[in-house]
Amino acid sequence: MTAAIAPSRKPRHIAVIMDGNGRWAQRRQRPRTLGHRAGARAVQVCVDFCLAEGIEALTLFAFSSENWNRPPEEVGALMKLFLRMLSLEVDELHRRGVRLAFIGERRGFPEAIRDRMAEAEIRTAGNRALTLTIAAGYGGRWDIAQAARKLAIEAAAGRLDPATIDETLLGSHLSLAGLPPPDLFIRTGGDLRISNFLLWQLAYTELWFTETLWPDVDAALLRAAVADFAERERRFGLTSAQVAGGAT
Ligand code: IPE
Ligand code: IPE
Ligand code: MG
Repeated sequence: MTAAIAPSRKPRHIAVIMDGNGRWAQRRQRPRTLGHRAGARAVQVCVDFCLAEGIEALTLFAFSSENWNRPPEEVGALMKLFLRMLSLEVDELHRRGVRLAFIGERRGFPEAIRDRMAEAEIRTAGNRALTLTIAAGYGGRWDIAQAARKLAIEAAAGRLDPATIDETLLGSHLSLAGLPPPDLFIRTGGDLRISNFLLWQLAYTELWFTETLWPDVDAALLRAAVADFAERERRFGLTSAQVAGGAT
């Protein structure tokens, strides 16, 4: 049993690359899509953990802009799974006070999924226990490009002076603008990369990687990541002494 972590040392926002579903299934000589179904169960474990620990925001990378290039059968199976999850899970998430949000380019998704995403966002908008953001059709480069496009449209229409564009203004047009940036990033599956996830928003996020495949994630693993985070010194470019509030 690990000692409780002081609330001030806990991450407010956790962002996760849920990777390793395909390998989890292949190790069992099963089709990759079975791994995605097992991965959906691990999402529930992760949401339960965040609710129990009082984490404010959880952002999950479910499907990247590049994942559209996977074999059509796998993409099709993932779409079916998204629709199923949206049909089965939203009631329960709403009951538990979870606010749902989706980030990413929605145009490629079937209409039934886009409708359910919009409904879930509207229905859960007033919830405060946890903000659960699902990144679907998401890419960090897409995010920065869409923010730049919005500003360019404003500037071209004469409503925005380009000289006023700074990090704060661009940041306010990015996905997740309403949330604090992720404090803790977790990637399962053993690969040490960002894979076009939140490129801007992860600027000062603490990174934590594990070999564990996503469907095998449990509360103990998430607790270990949070405990590791709690031990880190976040300097944001300052010196250790500055952070400690001592001599500069
Ligand atoms: C992550 O698992 C889920 C998605 C990208 C949709 P993968 O499907 O990438 O699993 P591996 O990395 O091939 O094991
Ligand atoms: C990242 O995993 C995207 C998601 C988990 C949704 P990938 O499996 O697509 O990443 P790469 O291809 O190994 O970089
Ligand atoms: Mg993968």
